[in-house]
Formats: sequence, C-alpha cells, structure tokens
Amino acid sequence: MVQRPRRLRSSQVLRNMVRETRMSADSLIYPMFVAEGTNVKEEITSMPGQFRYSLDRMNEALCELEEAGVSAVMFFGIPLHKDEMGSGAFDRDGIVQQALRRAKDAHPGLLLLADLCMCEYTSHGHCGILCGQEVDNDKTLACLQKIAVSQAQAGADMIAPSDMMDGRVAAIRGALDEAGFSNIPIMAYSAKFASSFYGPFRDAAQSAPGFGDRKSYQMDFHNRREAKKEILLDVAEGADIVMIKPAMCYGDLIREAKEITQVPVAAYSVSGEYAMVKAAAAAGFVDEEKIMCEMAAGAYRAGADIYITYYAKELAKCMREGKMG
Ligand code: PBG
Repeated sequence: MVQRPRRLRSSQVLRNMVRETRMSADSLIYPMFVAEGTNVKEEITSMPGQFRYSLDRMNEALCELEEAGVSAVMFFGIPLHKDEMGSGAFDRDGIVQQALRRAKDAHPGLLLLADLCMCEYTSHGHCGILCGQEVDNDKTLACLQKIAVSQAQAGADMIAPSDMMDGRVAAIRGALDEAGFSNIPIMAYSAKFASSFYGPFRDAAQSAPGFGDRKSYQMDFHNRREAKKEILLDVAEGADIVMIKPAMCYGDLIREAKEITQVPVAAYSVSGEYAMVKAAAAAGFVDEEKIMCEMAAGAYRAGADIYITYYAKELAKCMREGKMG
C-alpha cells in the first residue's frame, strides 16, 4: 500500500499540523437581543444561556464578550410598541439606535452590526409594509432606507439587511451613500431561507408573523440555483459581505457563495441550531462543547469566513485555547 492516509493521523501534533480548517475568534459575531425597560436580563426560554437585555444591563454582556475575545456584536431590538409601519425601526430613539449609541460610547473597540428588518417592529410581524395580505416590496424599500440611515447615524459600523426584499441592497447602498455613509459596509442576508430553525428567535424577539408565513420573501429551502441567483444579485447591488442562513444543513450553499463571489462569506448558525444543541446536551445526549466546535468547523470548512453564533463567547475560548476538537 503506497497511500496510507492514516500516517498523517497518528498523533495529535501531526493532526494539528495538517489540519485544513483553522478558526479564529476574529471571525465571530455575537447576535444579541436588546429590550426596553430597566434592569432586565431575562433568559429566553427556548435558548438557555441567551438573554434579553435592557440598555442599562447590556454593558455586562458586552464586557463578557470583549473579555472572551469576541470583537463583533449584532443587535436585534425588541421594542415595546409595534405598529403597522414598524416605525420603531427607524426612530432616532428606537431601541437599537439607543443600544448602538451606548455601545459605541462604552465599547469603542467593538464592531457594531445592526440587523435591519421590520418584523420585530410591525404589529403584524411581517418583514415589510403590508398591502392587503401581501408584503409590498417597493414600499418596504423606502422604509429599509430610513432604517439603515438611522442605524448608521446611531453608530452602526455595518448594516445587515435580513428582510429579503428584492433590490434592497442597492436601495440601502444608495441611501447610505446619500446620507454620507459611503464607508459603512453592507452584510446582506443573501440566501436566507424560510426555515423552521428560526422558531426560538421569533419567541425571543416576539416577531412571529401574525398571519401566514414568510415564504413569499424568504427562500424555499429546496433551491440551490435560486440561492446562487440571490447571492450574485446582492453582490451586483453592492453587498460587501454575503450571508447564508441558517448554517447547518446549508453547507453546500456556503461553499457555493465562496466559489461564485469574491466577497467574504458569512454563515449564521441560527437560534434553532443553538436550541437543539442546548436541549440535547441538557438531556445528556450529546457533549455540548464538542458539538458546538464540530458545527463551527463544518461551517468554516464549507467556506465561511465569518460565523455568526449564539455560542460566540464559548467558541472564542475554544479557538484561543486551541481546543476545537
Ligand atoms: C429578522 C430575522 C430573523 C432572524 C434573524 N433576523 C427571524 C426571521 O426571519 O423570522 C433569525 C435568527 C435566528 O433564528 O437566530 N427577519
């Protein structure tokens, strides 16, 4: 036998030397929920270990992140009041705008991303402006532009539109440029699927649609060619980074994005992925840390340059200590 692949697996030192996927905490983004009120640090039932923070408690979490070596956070807002137009999303004193201002002040070293969507802010829970029972694409674009500019004005270092309207990247790019934010990058949720893996998030953000589902704007998870179309469109419209979401089950598309574009690729390991690992670990069925590392390695191996995960803190520690399994 000339080829004996096992030769290079014979010791940990050797395995480490020939390891193909090397991960670093620099590439992690932590998604975080900010809520109105004071002195709130409320655990999300379906996501043990994840919390809704009020602005006065948010600092604790940001300090923990920095201590763990995580350098980027993405904010999701949970407003007290919702309306048809989702106006809380572009309010100068909206929950995310306030969080951005505070975080910028207290943690100038952190990279601050703002998720840009309307579903947390609309009374009907859809990701845009309704016309009858339908989400009106082009009316929604005008709102997204306002939201993006208000987030940039509040201190966002990057805007991450997750609404899945057509043409939104170009619209947001134009609005940001016009408002003097031509240097603020856009990380587009390019291939975002209508996925059951978002269940716990909707519980956390109280953003489940009041009627129907999101299938008229989020993608059908059976489609690969269409995902390529979305990715290429976003790049053509000016996306600086493209994202695939969810991460687990979508490795083929992470790879596809890597091969067909020249921009960094992000993978979002969503709430349902986190919740499943937590639940299985709590039942004693899996080893939480090992599963977390293996899932991360899977996303990076598929081609992710950036990994968005509720496990960012714990992963950063494993990455730093070289304990990725
Ligand atoms: C907003 C948004 C969602 C997620 C990120 N941004 C929910 C949705 O589309 O229903 C999901 C994130 C997660 O599940 O962790 N549109």
